[in-house]
Order: sequence, then C-alpha cells, then structure tokens
Amino acid sequence: MSIHNQAKKGDIAKTVLLPGDPLRAKFIADNFLEDTVCYNEVRGMLGYTGYYNGQQVSVQGTGMGMPSMSIYATELIEEYDCEQLIRIGSCGSIQPEVQLRDIILAQGACTDNGMNQLRFGGLQFAPLADFDLLHRAYTIARGKDVNLHVGNVLSSDFFYNDEHIGDPFAVWQKFNVLAVEMETAALYTIAAKYKKRALSILTVSDHIPEGKSTTSEQRQTTFTQMMDIALKLV
Ligand code: HPA
Repeated sequence: MSIHNQAKKGDIAKTVLLPGDPLRAKFIADNFLEDTVCYNEVRGMLGYTGYYNGQQVSVQGTGMGMPSMSIYATELIEEYDCEQLIRIGSCGSIQPEVQLRDIILAQGACTDNGMNQLRFGGLQFAPLADFDLLHRAYTIARGKDVNLHVGNVLSSDFFYNDEHIGDPFAVWQKFNVLAVEMETAALYTIAAKYKKRALSILTVSDHIPEGKSTTSEQRQTTFTQMMDIALKLV
C-alpha cells in the first residue's frame, strides 16, 4: 500500500496506462482489457489490472495537473516497481497544422509549472519521452489512418487564464510547441528521476486559437485510435 493507492505489491503491472479521468480507467478496463481487477478506489482514483492479448497491463487514473500526476507516477514507480508509464490524454492545439482529432506523440514537454524550477534550483530541465517507446509508438501510428504529429507540448498549470496576462500561449506557439495539456512534463521528469520509460499520447480535443472543440462522438473515435496505439506498446 502507498498513501494514495491501496494496491498490494504485485497487484500492478509493469506497464501502466494513465488517463487523467479515473472513469476513463474504468472504461478502458471494461472495454479493452480482460480478467480485470480493480486494485484502487482511494479518493475515487480508480486503478485496474487486466490483460490485453495475454499481456498484463494496468490502467490508473492520475487526476488533472502536475502535482496529482507526480503523486501517482512516483508511487507507481517507488512502491509498485512499474517500468513503463504511458499517459493517454487530450490536449488543446495551438498550431494551425495540428487539427481536431489529430494525435500527438509528445517528444518533449515545456512547462509553466514551478516544481522543476524548485527541483533544479532555477536551472532548466528538458523533460523528454523515452526514445524507444516514442519510436515504437510512431511506427505503430504511421501504419494507421491517423494524422500524427511528434513534437513539443506545453504542460500548463492554467486551464482558465487571467485576461490581464494576455495570450499565455503566444510565446509557446511562436517556438513551435504543438499543444497544451497539464501533466506530461511531470510524468517525464519523474520517469527520468527513476530511469523508467514514459510517453504521452494525446488526442487533440480542442483548437485553442480557433476556439473549436470535438464532439463527444469524435472524441470517442480518436480515443479508440489512441488506445490502439497505446495497447500495442504493452
Ligand atoms: N488546456 C489544457 N488541457 C487541455 C486542453 C486545454 O485547452 N484541452 C484538452 N486538454
């Protein structure tokens, strides 16, 4: 048991899929995995272990934002010896060529969050995806009918922005950051700390400058495409 997880050692697979929404974890367990067992209900942050094509895999909700992601990623690695953490999430595009329903493999993650400033004493750390996972995901996704992008994302602490700071994403957009989400920089930093593998696979659910959002039906289709990629990495 860890502080935020009631699972026993051995209950959680080496590879863990990480949706932000715990009900997404339940949906994945119910619809994509076999012989599933729910190992965690602490704080409603559901976690399941099951099998995909005979391979054991877990799926754990992380909540939103970098403190929450940091807690779950740290405990999965420290307490449960997990090796491969794969975030499956959504993001808001800030580039014209990255459109609704496209899929992004986050090669790196910038952040406006303060944790790494404290951790690295004001110096800059570059949170990166595991190259092997990224390469495999890229190869799998290229074989599918998806609009794929590989590049930088911004893991932001802001979902709602304050008007007085103007457009908070303008500078990131200028430097070719593809999209905004809220967790990847923390996931990649913690994976690096423990020399474990991590990758974020993101579907584009919003286009921020264009003010567009996917319908729930479109979200379901792209979610299935993302799962097809993620589950092949197990
Ligand atoms: N901001 C942050 N995270 C997101 C967004 C967004 O606009 N869309 C989907 N995830």
